[in-house]
Amino acid sequence: MVVKEKRAINREILTELKTLEYRGYDSWGVATIENDTILVEKDTGKIGSTVLANTSDSLAGIGHTRWATHGGVTKQNAHPHLSFDGRFAIVHNGIIENYLQLKDELQKQIPNLVFKSETDSEVFAHLLAFNAQSLSVEEAFFKSLAKVKGLNAFVVLDKKNNNVLAYRHGSPLVFSQNDGGYYFASDAIALLPYTKKVYFIKEGEVFIGDRLFSAKTKKSKKITWQMLDLEVSDLQKDGFDFFIEKEINEIPTVIEKLISTYKNQEKSLLSLLNQHDEFFLIGCGTAYYAALIGQYLLAQVSRIATAYSGGEASLFLKNIKKSTLPIFLSQSGETIDLIEQVGFLKKKKRKLLALVNRISSTLDRESTLSFHLQAGPEISVVSTKAFVAKITAWLLICSSLNKQLKATTKNLALASKNIRKLFLAENLDKVAKIANLLSIQNHVFVLGRGVHYPIALECALKAKEAAYLHFEAFAGGELKHGVIALIEPGTWTIVIVGGDEEDANILANAEEIKARGGKILGISPYFHQVFDEWLSFESVPNANVLLEAVLVQLLGLYLAKAKNLDPDKPRNLAKSVTVK
Ligand code: G6P
Repeated sequence: MVVKEKRAINREILTELKTLEYRGYDSWGVATIENDTILVEKDTGKIGSTVLANTSDSLAGIGHTRWATHGGVTKQNAHPHLSFDGRFAIVHNGIIENYLQLKDELQKQIPNLVFKSETDSEVFAHLLAFNAQSLSVEEAFFKSLAKVKGLNAFVVLDKKNNNVLAYRHGSPLVFSQNDGGYYFASDAIALLPYTKKVYFIKEGEVFIGDRLFSAKTKKSKKITWQMLDLEVSDLQKDGFDFFIEKEINEIPTVIEKLISTYKNQEKSLLSLLNQHDEFFLIGCGTAYYAALIGQYLLAQVSRIATAYSGGEASLFLKNIKKSTLPIFLSQSGETIDLIEQVGFLKKKKRKLLALVNRISSTLDRESTLSFHLQAGPEISVVSTKAFVAKITAWLLICSSLNKQLKATTKNLALASKNIRKLFLAENLDKVAKIANLLSIQNHVFVLGRGVHYPIALECALKAKEAAYLHFEAFAGGELKHGVIALIEPGTWTIVIVGGDEEDANILANAEEIKARGGKILGISPYFHQVFDEWLSFESVPNANVLLEAVLVQLLGLYLAKAKNLDPDKPRNLAKSVTVK
């Protein structure tokens, strides 16, 4: 940030960095200009209740919270990184693919150059300083950016001009300005305390101070402002222990919002879908499981769809037919494995549909049409309400295709009512008791069939992410093709019983496990004698996946509680994966 009157902006930057910690929380750092020197304070670990030692005033500063790619989690590797001459401090998001080559070149050009970190990022600080020895800072910035390969966003603090420079390629960046100064962040939520008026920096754009340029043509560009539809209060925990808990509790409201606004977009969605006879559904992590659910639900209305994990999709998208519509699913709209594919398809002038939560994210802006999931900010790294919003979206879309919207709307309203009942103390006590039991197991298996199989996958993912437990999901039909060899007396298996035509087979699987001494937790609308433990929900025609999803998410939360872990920020993870 750059402000007009000196103040302790290092503390402000640290406060805003806490809002951005979901992007990575291995280490953090802040740099400000004080009396013609760049002061850097950084450390490993989460920011927590850190109070910066330095309180002096400054006009310009930058900060960073890291998710390590190159170089371990150490204080030296934490950003910002200083240039050899002390003029620049840089923060970076991305991977400089040719950093070793640049490092070699710089070492030859700059006598006694010492790299203080093992990061690729530090290279850019020295490269810029080297170029700025003979060029204006603008020219040096453009020249340095042209040398760097890969998807990278940089924000640079320039001591000489008391200024900040920024560049976006791949990783997101937002700019905003108010009477007091101007600001950059990798997510608009960090700018909310300053202003709601923002500019989402586009691919290949550069800011020199508060002026916008194209990196390619070096010509100046006009800033087109946008108002954020967010409140600072959206970013509070509202009395819950964790964001994940708050976000699970918001699920019924999210479903109701989607029901009430769906009619406005039904026509445009149907028009785009009906121009195609096949669909590719692409997402990562939880969003991939939501894509799998879409594949099953679309099959139920006789439409052909194939779900791909974002990281595996490129080969299949390369030869995608004109009659196949690519549909991207994402909470953040910034996941690099999706954005890369979006870029490829855009070049081919293909139409794209997005099911996306973050309005104005890259995916939202680049898609032909977006179905906004309207789940509000999701802060917990472990995604919950956005997953359920995506399932709700599929149920609505499929009912439109099948001309059953009225019945589905009624079922969804009932599902939302029944989900609220899952938050009653009696049910939560039961979930907590079962979580205590499962949290001490070495391995737990989860089985589902049909549309309930992706719910089994979601259950296993939640246990891994939130509680570092080895839960493994399988399609019920696969049990006898290998998995059953892992069942020993006392091994727990969770079976998802969806209250439909798959029930008889999944219950038969449960019996087969039981016959070998295994224990069964049934997630089911009714009790069955094969269950040793039972988590129940009230059945809703064609919408039980929503209730199952909430129950497995609650189980994930209570597994984390049982192990005394923070499910909002699990180790090694980041909410928005913007590097390959
Ligand atoms: C990360 C998060 C997951 C999320 C995935 C996809 O891995 O930890 O919770 O499902 O990214 O994120 P997206 O924003 O594209 O839905």
